Amino acid sequence: MESAQARLGQLLFYDKILSGNRNVSCGTCHHHDHGGGDGLSLGIGEGGVGVGPRRTAGTGPDAIRKRVPRNAPGLWNLGAREVETLFHDGRLSRSDRFGNGFDTPAEEWLPPGLATPLAAQALFPLVAQFEMAGNPRENEIAGAVHDRIDAAWPILAKRVRTIPAYGGMFVDAFDHIERPEQVSIVEIGNALGAFIASEWRNHDSPFDHHLAGDPTALSDAARAGMDLFYGRAGCATCHAGPLLTDHGFHALALPQIGPGRTRRFDPYPRDVGRMGESDRLEDAYRFRTPSLRNVALTAPYGHNGAYPTLRGIVAHHADPLGALDRWTPDLARLPEAPWLSPADFAAAADPREAARHRRAVDITAVALSDADLDALVAFLKALTGDTARTRPLGRPHAVPSGLPVD
Ligand code: HEC
Ligand code: HEC
Repeated sequence: MESAQARLGQLLFYDKILSGNRNVSCGTCHHHDHGGGDGLSLGIGEGGVGVGPRRTAGTGPDAIRKRVPRNAPGLWNLGAREVETLFHDGRLSRSDRFGNGFDTPAEEWLPPGLATPLAAQALFPLVAQFEMAGNPRENEIAGAVHDRIDAAWPILAKRVRTIPAYGGMFVDAFDHIERPEQVSIVEIGNALGAFIASEWRNHDSPFDHHLAGDPTALSDAARAGMDLFYGRAGCATCHAGPLLTDHGFHALALPQIGPGRTRRFDPYPRDVGRMGESDRLEDAYRFRTPSLRNVALTAPYGHNGAYPTLRGIVAHHADPLGALDRWTPDLARLPEAPWLSPADFAAAADPREAARHRRAVDITAVALSDADLDALVAFLKALTGDTARTRPLGRPHAVPSGLPVD
């Protein structure tokens, strides 16, 4: 059953039928060729053209109206039981608060029956205007979202289940589905969640072989990096455990770029991270500690992709405010969109906002030499699984809607 759901999820993941204007899929931003990310600093959703680092902001009336405010993370090992919180600000978590198993931006409107945090997460890009839904008046999904967040999901479910190939696959994959008409957004979310969990599970890196007792698994440089990571450099204070994350939130003062995540009472183009979700002032500019497995495959780095290299993001940790001063906009991988550029660096250019941002740093500076940085980068590369590039299912060549896959 589970593998039938994952196979169905693989097709849905790459099927643009799930986007309002039938022009974006999950795979557009979480692509197999780019470690499950897109290689860009900030995602380009609805209106963009192409996939991966070559994706452009589009042209004419269909061009993007806003960048996606954050970096599209790789999806490695997110099905692990210890992962109970998703998104850079943790706005989705397991919880009994609304009677549906999760605390999410949809609150009580999230339907019950979603099996895992990944299944619940999958419902949100579908209804996000600049990711997959599109702009009001362009299509029925965007219009419905405008009324209430849960109004679009039944329309999408109907789109999918009325494609005969999908209808039959749902009947085969879910015990309780006897006829395609019974398929709702819950089964779609569960299939996507099953796919992500099995597709991006990966634990066969040189570091794993080392932990299993193979004395030759790590190079000398990686071993030196590991000693720093768990010792003097203090990385394991936050990057701990099997996934090398504490699942907590910390402020590192990464350069602010992009449109930010404005809030109803805070229209300023900045991203306050965890505070946007918790409403606690001490959470300002904090972001979730990412897992570091397969991190070498998922550049650029940080919640907004401010650093194109591992060396750059590690050096930032060691000297956050110095690195912030030295950072230059050419480091960002932002597809050209001159009509958006006034917003791209607005927060950093405002002295009062910049001062607030600089005051919130949770990490202790540590002196790292060039050799230390080399060693740490060698260790981070030793977190790449031997089979990371050969995934169980991969990208499908065609999808049941007949829409182009990339
Ligand atoms: C336009 C690009 C884009 C599309 C399309 C997209 N995503 Fe994402 N995804 C992102 C970005 C950006 C984030 C980070 C958002 C945040 O944390 O605020 C993200 C976050 C996630 C996460 C959470 C990762 C984590 O570590 O917390 C998952 C899981 C995910 N996406 C799955 C999906 C699925 C499933 C789909 C299709 C239904 C999808 N995405 C479509 C860009 C995209
Ligand atoms: C105080 C907690 C903390 C410590 C200590 C810490 N990190 Fe981080 N690390 C984070 C957080 C939080 C982020 C994400 C920050 C953001 O996106 O704004 C991060 C991001 C990263 C990233 C980017 C991952 C990605 O997918 O974008 C790498 C690589 C990394 N850390 C490596 C290290 C190394 C190496 C050290 C030791 C030198 C270290 N970290 C020490 C909390 C920490």
